[in-house]
Amino acid sequence: MPLEYTPEFEARVQAWVEARLKPKRIPHVRGVVETADWMAQLYVPHQRMQARLAAWIHDAAKKLPDEELMQQAELHHLPISEGEKMVPMLLHGAVGYVLAAQEFGLDDPQLQTACAYHTTGDPTMNALDMIIYVADLIEPTRDFPGVDALRTAAQVSLEGVTLMATDFTLHYLIERGKYIDPRPVHLHNRLVQAGVTYRRN
Ligand SMILES: [Fe+2]
Ligand SMILES: [Fe+2]
Repeated sequence: MPLEYTPEFEARVQAWVEARLKPKRIPHVRGVVETADWMAQLYVPHQRMQARLAAWIHDAAKKLPDEELMQQAELHHLPISEGEKMVPMLLHGAVGYVLAAQEFGLDDPQLQTACAYHTTGDPTMNALDMIIYVADLIEPTRDFPGVDALRTAAQVSLEGVTLMATDFTLHYLIERGKYIDPRPVHLHNRLVQAGVTYRRN
């Protein structure tokens, strides 16, 4: 019998996640749920509950040290890229999903990719994946120059705001001399090739 995503189920997931988070991260995760909810109502109303569940789960493994992220990824046969070997933190979304799947008997590729892609993005992202990726960046507790422009763009076009968020992240990493995973670069190219644009000021 497939799992039913009832409000009671969501409450169990929330309690499990919040017990695994550092207390200071709880407002962020609640903010991602709130933002993913309104974005889902706008862009994929039939997936509103999946958006909420993915948002709850996306950072469930955030507290784990690098060695444990690597161990969990190996144990669950997750693909581990060169970038993830260098920066195991990039695995926290994918590991968060497998831990939740184990706990609740989830088997939902929609939740899996939305969690797995939330940090780097991915050229194969679907609408729900984009919502979690963007909501992670623009939820109400985020406060950085440019966040309001991203929030406005999120109300206009899902693909537009996804490109804007990707470009924002790429700029941020370049300016700080950080390692760049190839996935956001491929995501940028896919959206540009599809003719996606956003308002630049
Ligand atoms: Fe995260
Ligand atoms: Fe997050």
